Amino acid sequence: MQIIHTPLEMQECAMGLKRAGKVIGFVPTMGFLHEGHLSLMRIAREQCDVLVVSIFVNPTQFGPNEDLDAYPRDFKRDEALCREAKVDFLFYPEPTNMYADNASVWVEEESLSSVLCGASRPGHFRGVCTVVAKLFNLVQPDLAVFGEKDAQQLRIIERMVRDLNFPVEIVRGPIVRESDGLAMSSRNKYLSPEQRKNAICLRKALDAATRMFRKGEHNVEPIRSVMEEMISAVPEVRIDYIEFVDEQTLCMVNRIDRPVLVAIAVRVGSTRLIDNGVLGSMSGAHKVAVKNAL
Ligand code: PAJ
Repeated sequence: MQIIHTPLEMQECAMGLKRAGKVIGFVPTMGFLHEGHLSLMRIAREQCDVLVVSIFVNPTQFGPNEDLDAYPRDFKRDEALCREAKVDFLFYPEPTNMYADNASVWVEEESLSSVLCGASRPGHFRGVCTVVAKLFNLVQPDLAVFGEKDAQQLRIIERMVRDLNFPVEIVRGPIVRESDGLAMSSRNKYLSPEQRKNAICLRKALDAATRMFRKGEHNVEPIRSVMEEMISAVPEVRIDYIEFVDEQTLCMVNRIDRPVLVAIAVRVGSTRLIDNGVLGSMSGAHKVAVKNAL
């Protein structure tokens, strides 16, 4: 595995690989890697000749009162995990190399970014889109894998690729969870043992929503109230939002009559956690059955 520190080196290397006809797979991350990140690397590995991973805690996607400085970092551990995952190139730039002091061009998605985390974290998705666009220009990937854990980010990146004609296929990776159901996240490290236990309420509320839906409740409000009640009862957990939105457009819905993304954001103490699930989607097996019936 080769570690690359500067954007120019990364771009020259990627262009050489392209000229040699290699298929480049890419997984962008902010490091402090866990099984969620590693699962995306495995998905990419299967579809490419050369696997590039980036580790960059992107300052422009953090708000002024957010956790940029505290964000967990452990490069040595990440490097070892990338080697084990058979990463070919690890791109690990310095923030000063990634942004010019007087940088003045930004990539802004105007529709999907206005709801959910976009509403709670102004400027966040502008930072994400800008850094991902820059990384795509540096890494020149044929495919890039993003996790469903950040469902809104994934859809915004898909929209950016469509609207700006990036020649990149975006692949969705399923959410990886701890054995008790908590979605893996670098931010879980902030939780005290007590908070860690309490954080399971996100998954429990999503499971309750699934049960109600399966029993025939297709109206959003009764499901939302049960979820709200469950989460509000847990000490130290404050709800930021529980929203039901169309899985593709992220428009709010009142009834689950199509695939609907149920998205939750909470604070556990001062740590912000998100989770989500989709209701009303066809399972893989059902999709095959429908296809065969056509
Ligand atoms: P980061 O939070 O490090 O996540 C990197 C990738 O891992 C994202 O695509 C995210 O959705 C995915 N991921 C995180 N936890 C996951 C889990 N439990 N299961 C499956 N996938 C998971 O997302 C970012 O970094 C940044 O915004 C970035 C895209 C790198 C731009 O700076």
